[in-house]
Amino acid sequence: MRKLRNDFPILKRKIHGKSLVYLDNAATTQKPRQVIDAVSRYYAQTNANIHRGIHTLAEEATEAYEGARKKIADFIGAKDPAEIIFVRNATEGINLVARSFVAPRLLFERSRELLLTEMEHHSNLVPWHVLQSKVESPKSKVLLKFIPVKKNGTLDYSKLDTLITKKTALVSVTHASNVLGTINNIPRIVKAAHAKGVPVLVDAAQSAPHMPIDVQKLGCDFLVLSGHKMLGPTGIGVLWGRRELLEAMPPFLGGGDMIRSVRYDGFEPNDLPWKFEAGTPNIAGAIGLGAAVDYLQKISMQNIRAHEMVLTKYALKNMQKISGLTIYGPQDSKKQTGVISFNLHGIHAHDLASICDREGVAIRSGHHCAEPLVRKFGQNAMARVSFYLYNTKKEIDIFIDALKKAKEIFK
Ligand SMILES: Cc1ncc(COP(=O)(O)O)c(C=O)c1O
Repeated sequence: MRKLRNDFPILKRKIHGKSLVYLDNAATTQKPRQVIDAVSRYYAQTNANIHRGIHTLAEEATEAYEGARKKIADFIGAKDPAEIIFVRNATEGINLVARSFVAPRLLFERSRELLLTEMEHHSNLVPWHVLQSKVESPKSKVLLKFIPVKKNGTLDYSKLDTLITKKTALVSVTHASNVLGTINNIPRIVKAAHAKGVPVLVDAAQSAPHMPIDVQKLGCDFLVLSGHKMLGPTGIGVLWGRRELLEAMPPFLGGGDMIRSVRYDGFEPNDLPWKFEAGTPNIAGAIGLGAAVDYLQKISMQNIRAHEMVLTKYALKNMQKISGLTIYGPQDSKKQTGVISFNLHGIHAHDLASICDREGVAIRSGHHCAEPLVRKFGQNAMARVSFYLYNTKKEIDIFIDALKKAKEIFK
C-alpha cells in the first residue's frame, strides 16, 4: 500500500498543516505519476493532430490515441474498439444517446416513455428533461418513469415488468449510486427490458472505477464512464454502444474528422467510431486514460473491489458507533461501493465538511448532483465519504476522529 501511495504525488500534500486524507473519490480521483507522465510525455514528445498528417509525430499521436481506445475496449469487454466513442465525460455520453438514439425514436416510433431510477445523478436525469421539452407537444407527452428506491437504499424491482412497456424508448440506469453506494442488478433490469425489446443504457461512472466491468455480462446496449473518476484526466470519457445501434444513429456533432467526404450540398459521415468524434479530440486525455486503465489492470479490478469492501466495512462499523449519525444506503459492503452518505444530528453537512477539512480530511457535502434523491430521504444536504484504492484504515480513523471533534464543537 505504501508503495502504491507513493505513485500519487498529491497524497504527500499537507492541508492546514495535516496530511491530506482524500475521501472525495466519487467526485473525482487523484492521479498516479504514471498518468501524469503519460500526459506530459505526449505533450513533450509526440504532440500533433491525429488522423490527418502523414509525418512521424502525427502517426505516433494517432497510434497512441487509437491504442488507448483499444485498451479501454479490453477493460470493459467490448468486442470491437470501434464501439468505443471518446467523449468529454459520462454526461456527454448520455446526451449523445439522448440526441442521436432516443430523440429519433421518440419522434418517429411513438415510443413515448423513458424509464430511469429514483437514484440517478443529474447527468442521467436532466438530459431526459431537456429532450422531453424538445420533443413533446400538448397532445403528445413524453413520460419519465422511475424504478423506486426503497428505504434501505436499494431498488424496488417488484414492479419492473409493469414499468417497462412497449412504449419505453430506453431504460437508462446507474450501475452504482453516487449517493447511496448501492450496486444495482443490471442483468435483471436488462432481462426485463430486452423481453420487451427495449434497449438499456448503463451509467458506469461510479462502477467502472471500482469493480470489474464486462459489457457482455451486463448485457446492456450502451454504457458511459468518466476518465477522471478512474485515475484518468478530466475532460475525457467513454460511450460504448453496440455496433449495430451506433451504426444506425445519426452523428451527434458535425465538423472535422466525423466525415468521409464533404460537398457544398452535403456530407458523408465517417465510419465508427470517428462518426461521433467531431473536431480535434482530447488526445492527451485519451492517452492519459489509457495509462490509467493500464495502472488499474496491473493492480486488478478484483483486488481494488476487495480492498474497498474492507475499507467500507471498517468505516460502516465505526460510523455506526457514533450516536446521532444517520447513514443513507444499504450499509452492507457486499451490496455497495465505497460510497457512504450520512448526517450527524444537529450539524449541517457543510459544517461537518469544514471541520473535517481543518483536520486535512476532504469529504463532500450537499446534494451530490442528485437533488431529488436527497429530498426523497427528507434531507436538503448529506455529507459523503468515498474511498479508492489508495485509502487506508488509518485514514478512516482520522476521519472518525474528525467527526468526534465536530460533535464536541457542536455539543
Ligand atoms: C453516477 C454518476 N453519473 C454521472 C456522473 C457525471 O460524471 P461527469 O460529471 O464526469 O460527467 C457522475 C458524477 O459524479 C456520477 O456520480
